[in-house]
Order: sequence, then structure tokens, then C-alpha cells
Amino acid sequence: MLSYRHSFHAGNFADVLKHLILIKILEYLHKKDKPFCCIDTHAGPGLYELNSDYALKNKEFENGISRLWQQPNLPASVEQYVKVIQHFNVTDQLNYYPGSPLIAQHFLRVQDRLFLHELHSTEIERLTQTVKKDRRIKVFHADGLKNTLGLLPSKEHRGLILIDPSYEIKTDYQSVVDTLIQMHKRFATGTYALWYPVVDRTRNQHLELALKQSAIKNIQLFELGISADTAEKGMTSSGMIVINPPWTLQADMQETLPYLATQLGLDHAGHYRIETLVKE
Ligand SMILES: C[S@@+](CC[C@H](N)C(=O)[O-])C[C@H]1O[C@@H](n2cnc3c(N)ncnc32)[C@H](O)[C@@H]1O
Repeated sequence: MLSYRHSFHAGNFADVLKHLILIKILEYLHKKDKPFCCIDTHAGPGLYELNSDYALKNKEFENGISRLWQQPNLPASVEQYVKVIQHFNVTDQLNYYPGSPLIAQHFLRVQDRLFLHELHSTEIERLTQTVKKDRRIKVFHADGLKNTLGLLPSKEHRGLILIDPSYEIKTDYQSVVDTLIQMHKRFATGTYALWYPVVDRTRNQHLELALKQSAIKNIQLFELGISADTAEKGMTSSGMIVINPPWTLQADMQETLPYLATQLGLDHAGHYRIETLVKE
């Protein structure tokens, strides 16, 4: 039984990093006219109202997108991310926050395709309404990890697989790695972006070790923390592990992450990691 609702967290510091990197990868795929395919294994409802009871419960967006919204002199990648979010807000007021499906749809050209997965019965209805009828998009009410295996390799032979689980059960960390290894066997040249939270650092250490020992090459990690690790409940950092990243991504993040750590960190004292887990 799924209980996670991303509407409580939309636009928080973790979404900022996740969606900024998503945009950098999609922008990179745009550079060639050749079609690409984007697969979102855990899509969520697609669009979030920041005036909803869900979003207002903990106002997580106030420590995320809100801190960048009217900010001058943003680093280039942050400015590009904020511009995409602005596209979904008709006024200067920040009322809406797009999820990964709408961000991916924003970057689709006629020749590209997007596959979306969502398991939650309410979220799948909202997702279907949000993306409406778009011939380039196929929505699955299915387990995104299992179903994606059947979609690979994609006929485009270029593309991105975004894996953004809610990690509701501890075994999610292991099943994500197991499935990622299987996906990579079917489509070794694809770009994979795996989001992770830091709630209990030992789980992250196991995840990183499993990937290092997986025989997959070219793995980079980008992490943003707003406070130090703690044994108490709650997410203090989160990150993206990217397999076959755009070659420009690490340099971009060298400029972006120090800024985000200062701007979004509690007392402006956040922290970040940029690491090559496995070389090319
Ligand atoms: C973190 S949220 C996704 C947020 C979204 N990717 C975004 O960036 O806007 C995770 C979503 O995955 C859904 N979910 C959980 N397990 C799933 C599974 N096995 N397959 C597909 N969706 C799943 C949850 O219902 C939830 O809506």
C-alpha cells in the first residue's frame, strides 16, 4: 500500500537539485536532432499547486524554489532551472511547481518520446489529466522499475531513464540497484539518473558500494545537504547518481552546487559532494 504523496514535498531543496540536473540532461539530449526517449519510472502527479493544503503543511518549497525565485545574479544552470519553473507560472507569483513529467514534456520535440509510470491510484489519475493527450507520451499505471525493463533498449538508442523512488521501504535501496544493473545490461549507452535521499547514511554507503561493484562504468554523484547528517528522523541531504552523464555536467555542478549549498542550506551553511564513483 503506497502512502507517499510528493505534494507535501514539491519544490523543496531535493526537487531543486533533481530537476536542475534533469533539465541539464534533457538540454544535452536536445543538442542533436536525432530523437531521444525519456523514461520516468516514478512520475508522481505531474504538477503541484503550492497553495494546496498538502504543500502548505510543511511549506518545504520555502527552503527550495522560493529561495531562488526572485534572486538576482543566479549561476547559469540555476537561472535556466528557474526559467523552466517560471514557464508554468503565468504571473511573477510562484503558484505552481512542475514535476518531472511536465519538465520532460517541456523539452520534447516532435521526434521524441516520453514514458511515464505511476503506481498510486490517485496520482495516476492526476498524472493522466496533467499530461493530457500528447501522442509523444505514454502513461503506465504500473511498477516503473519492472515495466522499464520491457522498454529497453529503446528504438531511439539515446535517452534518459529517471529513477525517482519514494524509498518507502528499506529494501527499495537494494531493488533499485538490482534493477538498474539489469536496465544497464539492456541499454548500456543510456543515461540513468537515480535520485536518493540521505536519511540514514549507512544505506547510502551500501547503495554507492553496490554501484561501484556493479561493473557499470562512468558513474558520477552530485549531492546537496542543507544540514549535517543526523540519527533523528528526516532528510538532511539528497543527491543524484548519474550514469553516462553529459560530459559538461560535472563542470556545471562545480559552479552550481556551492551556490545552492549557501542559498538553500540552513543558516546558509549547506554542504555538497561531487564525486566520480566509477570512471569512464
Ligand atoms: C518521489 S515521487 C515522484 C516525483 C516525480 N518524479 C517528480 O520529480 O515530480 C515517487 C512517486 O512514485 C510512485 N511510486 C512508488 N512506487 C512506484 C513504483 N514501483 N512504480 C511506479 N511508481 C511508484 C509514488 O506513488 C510517488 O508518486
